[in-house]
Amino acid sequence: MSVSFCGLQLAHPVINASGTFDLLAANTAFGESLRERFPFAAFVSKTITLEPRKGNPPPRLWEAPAGLLNSIGLPNKGLQGYLANDLPAISELLGKVRAQPPVPLITNVMGSTAAEIAQLLNACEQREEISAVELNVSCPNVKTGLDIGADPVQLEVVVREVRPHLSKPLIVKLTPNTADVAACALAAQEGGADAISLINTLRAMAPGGGSPKPWLGGGTGGLSGPAIRPVALAQVAAAARRVSIPVVGMGGVQSAKHAQDLLDVGATLVAVGTESFRDPSAGSRIAHELSGAAETPANATPDHPGASTLLNLK
Ligand code: SIN
Repeated sequence: MSVSFCGLQLAHPVINASGTFDLLAANTAFGESLRERFPFAAFVSKTITLEPRKGNPPPRLWEAPAGLLNSIGLPNKGLQGYLANDLPAISELLGKVRAQPPVPLITNVMGSTAAEIAQLLNACEQREEISAVELNVSCPNVKTGLDIGADPVQLEVVVREVRPHLSKPLIVKLTPNTADVAACALAAQEGGADAISLINTLRAMAPGGGSPKPWLGGGTGGLSGPAIRPVALAQVAAAARRVSIPVVGMGGVQSAKHAQDLLDVGATLVAVGTESFRDPSAGSRIAHELSGAAETPANATPDHPGASTLLNLK
């Protein structure tokens, strides 16, 4: 099951999608069992921006048919806050996880310009706790950022400009909200990315319930969950056909079957996102099932695999 990804040795091919697993909160909630049976082979942080962000006004979530709309808006402490507070805490926690090989940290960053991204990469380069960087050019909930990722010409220029600022692996996270995702995948590769990840959420809107004002405070949001699984499969397949670098596939993965579908069309790793909100042990359940040694926890139901047997990957 172990996988080599951009020079990193991972215990299995399942990681988390950025922003869908709050590691520090999970540690408070689950403590020792989290460190004992960690759900992911690598941990990807929530997106960090240069300056602190409050995020979008509420409401920020809406349950869609077979999915979830979020309009979170990248709230975070900013680069300095991350480096001073969260990075040491996350790194200390990952150091206590009993996994072999150890779980590397991938820091996710977003900038509105190449100069901003370069500053973020420079900072990540300096910190040995960070093994790789995922560059988010795909958040639909902020005014800037997505525009870079939706245009292959601009994307290649920006990736090429920032690439020299990082010697560690650089993963570019692509948006599905573009005319030709394979062209964006190729642009990321040509610019110097070591890997691509996709898909981020699909831009969508929740009705205002009789009011012309939409439900979400940010107006529109990003749709994730089972509803987007077939879109993810099509886009991961198209991107994987076009590039020679590794692909991290994600979008609506709830089971080993869904993960295997993405691996079958060319993904090297699979990320679990929205499913972790419903079942925090989803990552380990899926990795365990993928390994072909699935055991159903005693307290499992068809809809809920047994969160109390948290992270039951052997
Ligand atoms: C958000 O914080 O708005 C979600 C992150 C993303 O879509 O990249």
